[in-house]
Amino acid sequence: MSITVLVGAQWGDEGKGKMIDYLSGDSDLIVRFQGGDNAGHTVVNDKGVFKLHLIPSGIFEDNCVSLIGTGTVVNPDVLNEEIAQVAAANVDMSGLKISGKAHILLPAHQQLDALMEAKGGIGTTKRGIGVAYSYKMLRKNLRFEDLLDLETLPKKISGILDAVNAELTAYGAQPISYDELWDKCMEWKERYGDMIVEPISFLHNYMDEGKNILFEGQLAAMKDIDLGIYPYVTSSNPVAAYAAVSSGFPAKKIDRVIGVAKAFSSAVGAGPFPTESDDEQIQIIRGTGEHVDDEFGARTGRSRRLGWFDAPVVKYTNLINGFDELALCKIDKLDDLPEIKICVGYKLDGELLDHYPNTDQLERVEPVYKVMPGWMEDTTGIRKIEDLPENAKNYIKTIEDLTDTKICYVGVGPGRTELAL
Ligand code: GDP
Ligand code: IMO
Ligand code: MG
Repeated sequence: MSITVLVGAQWGDEGKGKMIDYLSGDSDLIVRFQGGDNAGHTVVNDKGVFKLHLIPSGIFEDNCVSLIGTGTVVNPDVLNEEIAQVAAANVDMSGLKISGKAHILLPAHQQLDALMEAKGGIGTTKRGIGVAYSYKMLRKNLRFEDLLDLETLPKKISGILDAVNAELTAYGAQPISYDELWDKCMEWKERYGDMIVEPISFLHNYMDEGKNILFEGQLAAMKDIDLGIYPYVTSSNPVAAYAAVSSGFPAKKIDRVIGVAKAFSSAVGAGPFPTESDDEQIQIIRGTGEHVDDEFGARTGRSRRLGWFDAPVVKYTNLINGFDELALCKIDKLDDLPEIKICVGYKLDGELLDHYPNTDQLERVEPVYKVMPGWMEDTTGIRKIEDLPENAKNYIKTIEDLTDTKICYVGVGPGRTELAL
């Protein structure tokens, strides 16, 4: 049995979808453990090209069951569309399950996110994620298991609508009627009734049978609600320990944590991003949006902010998560660069920092760079780390040394098997 958690090691969009798809071959169960359809996890395999938002990225393995876990917030209508899209590529969806304790992201949550962002927000994905988590914390929300109890549902709906409608009308929007939400709930009950599971016994049965379980994180620790660049963060905890907290198993059972980083940095949304750079060398990586691996948001299509690899970030996220292994994706994107910069530390007011700074300090830090020679060779066909060009191996070794990690996978292309091990 192995219990593995895979999480983002930077600012999101590091290649988690690709890595989960690759690792799902050895897994019996994949659990998406936080976030919602703010995620865009790109998978490129023999079934096609997919940008997954809610469905776990292991769905393509017929022998692997996929659970949308308790820590998530799920927009049922978005999930329905996504299921149809993936099923249209002849993917077997019978293994897709939803935790009864997962929260339902209501249409009003998305509407409120958009209204709040319009008044000056932080650049959310406008999918209603923060609003859904807020109502969860206020204890004014529905979970999937609520759809199955028609005796208690009416009272829950009424209580929720009192709260949601007060906020909608304060923004000048139309309130939602009881009948409208009741009808939606009946539609969702019909659609998802057979997929809803009691998550604790479901998960522990897999554990008792000694199965391999892989937990899929969304986003990354730099956008963690507690540990990231608050307030420019998401509303959940995209860190390894949260897989145990949200799914209901002892944290000490996690026996492998995999971090996923890009060989450079990218971010979407507002907030400090110390290594952001308008160097032509790094900007050229963005592409035009024509290729699957061009740097445009997989969820919103927004152009991603780009910068050099930031070692203090990955050192910090390693401190938080405890990576046993690091996957370094997109090294092939640096193939044509004669020189590559790595941020090795930050200076604040002229002093080199020995800890990760807070958000306001991060706005003011000055990155300290080391410049390394590039390798100017095509790496896309390489499948063993030892076969990479010397300068690429030096770049990898430098990152390992600066971040206290062991790089076990190197991404050399967007496809499932485009990995050097
Ligand atoms: P996620 O949110 O962490 O799953 O990452 P995204 O899918 O949002 O963004 C990662 C992007 O990089 C996608 O376009 C992937 O197809 C692409 N990608 C992942 N790994 C590699 C790699 O090793 N090389 C290249 N060229 N592209 C990659
Ligand atoms: P994956 O899983 C990159 C960012 C948004 C914004 C902040 C809060 O594909 O890595 P939210 O909609 O969550 O309230 O937005 O978080 N963000 C992401 N950035 N990749 C993602 O997901 C993201 N999910 C949210 O841009 O800055
Ligand atoms: Mg993404």
